[in-house]
Amino acid sequence: QSSLWDDVASGAHIELARDAEFIVIAPATADCLARLAQGRADDLLSATVLTATCPVAIIPAMHHQMWLNPATRANVEILRSRGFLIMDPVVGPLNNGDVGVGRFPETFEIFDFLAESQLLQSDLLGKKVVVTAGGTREMIDPVRFIGNLSSGKQGIALAKAAASRGANVQIIAANISPELLPNDPLISIVKISSTADLAVQLSKVEGFDLLFMAAAVADYRPSEISTEKIKRSGSARSLALEENPDLLATFTAQHRAKGGRGIIVGFAAESAVDVESATTKMNRKGVDYLFVNDVVNNDVFSSDFNGGLLLGSSGEMANLPYQQKDTLAHALLNVLGERLG
Ligand code: CTP
Repeated sequence: QSSLWDDVASGAHIELARDAEFIVIAPATADCLARLAQGRADDLLSATVLTATCPVAIIPAMHHQMWLNPATRANVEILRSRGFLIMDPVVGPLNNGDVGVGRFPETFEIFDFLAESQLLQSDLLGKKVVVTAGGTREMIDPVRFIGNLSSGKQGIALAKAAASRGANVQIIAANISPELLPNDPLISIVKISSTADLAVQLSKVEGFDLLFMAAAVADYRPSEISTEKIKRSGSARSLALEENPDLLATFTAQHRAKGGRGIIVGFAAESAVDVESATTKMNRKGVDYLFVNDVVNNDVFSSDFNGGLLLGSSGEMANLPYQQKDTLAHALLNVLGERLG
């Protein structure tokens, strides 16, 4: 499909953007740069890019006077500041016989640029990655539950990023909207709902290289699940809760006891990032890494953006700035991939 208007109802740009692991625009004209910098959406390409949350690489090619024009320079600046990866065109003969900067690079040069930009990576080829994502729900009665705001987007971004780097990925998906779930031969998905379901699935996990425990797990569940819908009683009522086991701490201890060497990463959504208490939590869970994000000062839940602090059990610390969840996933994999070797 090449036009936005061929089949408006199907929302081709939304589907294309959702399925893409990354987008490469090659060659990109000066007009294309200007349109993207303005956030236009009146053709299939610009509408897809505006919808996409994945990395976008742009390979411009044009006459050198267009490339050097302040308008184009400003557009490139704007796009780079928004995270677009833009390759500088090469110097050489141009279409009209002039010589200058603006020539479309050779294909191998483009591949080198994409590899350096970490868009084309295969560092996780053959690795097994497990991601728990979403939020568990604890039923109160047939229609009500205790839940949380986790959308599962960060876990899905991690799964997609790992698969794009060659890993075989399993997602244990807790109550994630079906349209967010990827359709990728390298990714298998098991759907679960409660913390107890998650415990069952985790007990089947073995032989992994990396486990991301990104799911928001309910700490408490109702002591009893009413089989019938609870009626209004006309006065206040309280709900008795029982504590759920700490699945991550238990899983990690069992995995280590069996001699497992997989890297385990916990996630903590905190109201304020405090290194000391985060370190205590990391040690309490026994995990190799804890990624901590501030959910009060940053818009994180349901959003396509996230950022935070990655703590390592050997004292490492990496501050990962607020960015698209997809690029954050790659940033996390860059750190962890090095450890995997
Ligand atoms: N987690 C878990 N089992 C639980 C609660 C949390 O496995 N019952 C996991 C989460 O998936 C996450 C990590 O533990 O990877 C940290 O979750 P968090 O809710 O921050 O930890 P808690 O131990 O519940 O600490 P807090 O008292 O701060 O809620």
